[in-house]
Amino acid sequence: MALPAGLEELIRVFDGWAIVTRYDVLSDAWIFVALHDDTLGPALGGTRMKVYETPAEGLRDAMRLARGMTNKWAALGAGYGGGKAVLALSHELDPEERKGLLARYAQLLNSLGGIFHTGQDLGTTPEDISFLSSISPHIHGAISGQPAQDPSPYTARGVLAGIRAAIAHVDGTDVLSGISVAIQGIGNVGRRLASLLVAEGARVILCDVDRHRAESAARELGGELVDAAEVFATPCDVFSPCAVGAILNEATISQLKCRIVAGSANNMLATPEDGERLHERGILYVPDYVINAGGAIALGPLLHAGEDARIARVDEIAGAVAGILAAARQHNESPAAAVRRRVQRVLEEARARHV
Ligand code: PHE
Repeated sequence: MALPAGLEELIRVFDGWAIVTRYDVLSDAWIFVALHDDTLGPALGGTRMKVYETPAEGLRDAMRLARGMTNKWAALGAGYGGGKAVLALSHELDPEERKGLLARYAQLLNSLGGIFHTGQDLGTTPEDISFLSSISPHIHGAISGQPAQDPSPYTARGVLAGIRAAIAHVDGTDVLSGISVAIQGIGNVGRRLASLLVAEGARVILCDVDRHRAESAARELGGELVDAAEVFATPCDVFSPCAVGAILNEATISQLKCRIVAGSANNMLATPEDGERLHERGILYVPDYVINAGGAIALGPLLHAGEDARIARVDEIAGAVAGILAAARQHNESPAAAVRRRVQRVLEEARARHV
């Protein structure tokens, strides 16, 4: 039987070490576990669950996100490898179907024997993660019988710290009062980020593919609304992508009217060249996997730490962002290039220690 269109080509070009695939007949979903790099340790990355137009779109996402996790752990200097799981749905599942799929996914994780650990990501809820942990020990952030920990508040807090550092880099002051931030995606992270920003006196401009979600947040927080299609061209200080990835490409970058791009979305850049495009346009890009690492910090290296230690470590994202931006300025290169160099160095040093 032939693979669905595109899967074979994608697997052929994957630069990681393996892709575990299972087609779940009962829910008509594809399970993809992309294992990218285990130089720094066993793979740890979230589980994403959403409807994709084709299975290949889901696999592409898994591959890109797994690579992003390799970068994220390396940039953090944490002892994990890059991996990510995508449960690519063909349609929205009813609660029974969802539970069945999750149960079979948890069994698959068990059969992988701990080479991949996981937690919450876009489209999975603390309840889903808690259910997975009742079947599999390879789940981060869930203690049996208790609701799983949600990484989103830590991610949002880290993004706020990173925005502050970016503003300080550009303006020489880290006061957020009066700064305008256009947030794309009012989900778990975007919504929390919006309320943190409002508390700092910033002006938020909100958009979401689900207009009601954006409207209710705008009403509650006192933000402005913009259409999903218009967010790129909205004049603002900071454009903050907090939804899906690959939204920064040649066409969208040419529309931007912001000074800074800084948000929680993983893999914002469609291609590495888009980091250079932003740089050429004079827009400061804060590398996604540095600024959005708050959730990964809390559920990775600080999984068993107390709240104060987690918050202190998440707030250090400001220093990490400042360091990358300063290195980029010093070498006259884009922040995207500066962080890539850093990740390569960490991985090369670790590989040299292994041999
Ligand atoms: N899903 C988030 C991320 O990709 C946070 C997370 C990391 C959750 C690792 C679980 C495990 O960064």
